[in-house]
Amino acid sequence: MQAFTLQDGRLCAEAVPLEDIAEQVGTPTYVYSKAAIESAWRGFDQALGDHPHQVCYAVKANSNLAVLQLLARLGSGFDIVSGGELERVLAAGGDPRRVVFSGVGKTADEMRRALEVGIRCFNVESTAELSRLNRVAGELRLTAPVSLRVNPDVDARTHPYISTGLRENKFGIDIREAEAIYRQAANAAHLSVEGVDFHIGSQLTDLSPIADALERVLALVDRLAAEGITIRHLDVGGGLGIRYRDETPPAAEDYARVLLDGLQGRDLELLMEPGRAVVGNAGVLITRVQYLKDGSEQRFAVVDAAMNDLLRPSLYDGWHAITPVRPRADTDTLPWDIVGPVCETGDFLGKQRELALAEGDLLAVHSAGAYGFVMASNYNTRPRPAEVLVAGGCHHLVREREPLRALWRGEHLLD
Ligand code: LLP
Repeated sequence: MQAFTLQDGRLCAEAVPLEDIAEQVGTPTYVYSKAAIESAWRGFDQALGDHPHQVCYAVKANSNLAVLQLLARLGSGFDIVSGGELERVLAAGGDPRRVVFSGVGKTADEMRRALEVGIRCFNVESTAELSRLNRVAGELRLTAPVSLRVNPDVDARTHPYISTGLRENKFGIDIREAEAIYRQAANAAHLSVEGVDFHIGSQLTDLSPIADALERVLALVDRLAAEGITIRHLDVGGGLGIRYRDETPPAAEDYARVLLDGLQGRDLELLMEPGRAVVGNAGVLITRVQYLKDGSEQRFAVVDAAMNDLLRPSLYDGWHAITPVRPRADTDTLPWDIVGPVCETGDFLGKQRELALAEGDLLAVHSAGAYGFVMASNYNTRPRPAEVLVAGGCHHLVREREPLRALWRGEHLLD
């Protein structure tokens, strides 16, 4: 669904004008649409129909408690990658029995806590991790449910920083070594083999790498079955892309079709870990133009959001649409570089954007619901933005703007 639309010349989130939010909460502020998040999540859930499945939203994409809470209420599971994300899920009312724990660096403390609250599965990424998990579970006299994250060695054809399924990437276990390690897991006293997991990359706009990975992983499932190791679920990771500019990512139904066709009637529960596709286009970052620098060579609009608030343009050259919150017809449309106040040449939100601008205007940076706030930092001693969730005609402040003093909390002056 399209959550951000122009109504009477004003850009609105659902039914709330963004300028009202800016007025009350200030800028920069992330604004999310409840309806858009819910509809995207349901898109995945419904696409899998009657086939046994669990959508485990990837918390890393946007971990605001209110976002997690509304997904928990829909019955979502969660894919976490740290003890911190686990605590967020619990604080938001998420069900630990629907949590899967991914990531290459789980500490013993994180494992202990996850075992104590009874998560659904650990997605194990190395033999060293497997032995540690077996030891920690033994100390607690518990059995740890495991799935191996295998690396199927397929090229996801996305940005190299977010491609994860090639042998040269740090993620997962080489699929050629997986059988031996499954044998090890099956024989371990405190582990119970439950599934197989893969995740080949993010912002995928083509389903063929997923279909390839699936085929390779199902062949592994069959080889394991022949050895008497039963796999009950297949976790296909996340990765489905969204439209930032002109991409045409597959719809959740097409994605589900590829998965269900690939299974060929196998009795495997499907788990999936979408992040970006659930929240990406459900959020914008609103920012106010501070200065217009209209030089001879280049025009810069200096806004009050920067790379510390939204890192994707600087880090991945990520393109985000930037539109006025109240389009104006009284100035010329010119190509502007939209830049922040941070002291780095790489601090920009967009380049050469055709906009009619005046000082004080509000802009919306679109597709900022995923990997936006969560990647924000305090670089240049800038407090992180506020976050607002809109539901119909109401808006809720779901995270206060960080107070400045919080930035040096825990620091100490010398005697
Ligand atoms: N599962 C695992 C194991 C992952 O590593 C990821 C993302 C996901 C699920 C969710 O993937 P999604 O559905 O969101 O594509 N910061 C980057 C994206 C990094 C993605 C890391 N892993 C960006 O801003 O593009």
